[in-house]
Amino acid sequence: MFLGSLKRHGVQPAEAVPDVVPILIELGARTDMVPRDTVHHYCTWNPIDERRRMYTGDQQENHLQESVRMVFPHLRAGLELCDLLGAFEPADPKFAVLTDALNGELRWMAESIDLVLAKVSPVFFARILRPYFEEIDVGERTYLGPAAAQVPLWLIDQAIWASDRSEPGYEEFLRDSVPYSLPRWRELYDTWVSCPSAVTRLLDAFGSDPHEAGPALTSSAAAIARMLRTVIIFRGRHLGIARQAYKEEVRLYSVGSGGASIDLLHDIITLTRENAQLMKTATEQRSADPETRGASA
Ligand code: HEM
Repeated sequence: MFLGSLKRHGVQPAEAVPDVVPILIELGARTDMVPRDTVHHYCTWNPIDERRRMYTGDQQENHLQESVRMVFPHLRAGLELCDLLGAFEPADPKFAVLTDALNGELRWMAESIDLVLAKVSPVFFARILRPYFEEIDVGERTYLGPAAAQVPLWLIDQAIWASDRSEPGYEEFLRDSVPYSLPRWRELYDTWVSCPSAVTRLLDAFGSDPHEAGPALTSSAAAIARMLRTVIIFRGRHLGIARQAYKEEVRLYSVGSGGASIDLLHDIITLTRENAQLMKTATEQRSADPETRGASA
């Protein structure tokens, strides 16, 4: 909190107190994390009682911390479900069951953004809070501040579609986000980066003729489409508030504290929609087939 506060007031902390550098590097090495605070320190590991650390003491900051804190247990569970998903063939009935469980965890992302919409004004975020999340230099490197963008939704994307159906801008954002995450999640990223995504595995399983697909495979695609729809709901509402906080007459910075722009958020939601549509189309093709309809009747 001191590092962020000093930077907010125009001071590079390591220039003002050079002795902090070896200490931060040692702490980073011991915890196997970046040598500064992250969203985990700011939200999840921050006490919730009167010892809660805030930059401003304003209730809106408290609500923002809470909105981010509440998603972590669900994303943690969601990531383990993604890991399990990799062990099942898309035509296995359990694939849809696991994906629906993942969908249940992801619903908390929408709850989180609804809390922000209700309790945090975009102007408060843009003008008062955002300056505390600036990057700082530690030794030879620059580290981003504790951004909500570090919430590992990007890693869920990686498993579901982004490992092989992404675009360079989002791939770069993903690579930049990896160092700020927990050791277990960095391990998952390393595994998933070279694996076919769930969407690709499903499309391969459908083959050239979706009409031939069995009911379990169709259910799997429908479950992925539902799960991506939940992510789109979060991303749509989130884009709305991000646009308000970063519009020219309000903002103090042109990019978010995670280093990305509103344009990138727009690209990410477009990619999510495209993948959801692929899954939806696959299920519709099968259910439009008269023979299949007859077979299941
Ligand atoms: C006032 C509230 C918020 C504003 C203005 C805002 C703004 C932004 C911006 C500009 C980005 C682009 C990346 C960057 O930070 O550089 C971003 C990314 C992101 N933010 Fe927020 N955000 C807010 C609240 C939240 C909350 C409450 C969550 C959920 C826990 C969240 C989750 C994310 C995620 C997951 C990304 C990565 C991009 C994506 O997956 O779509 N944000 N946000």
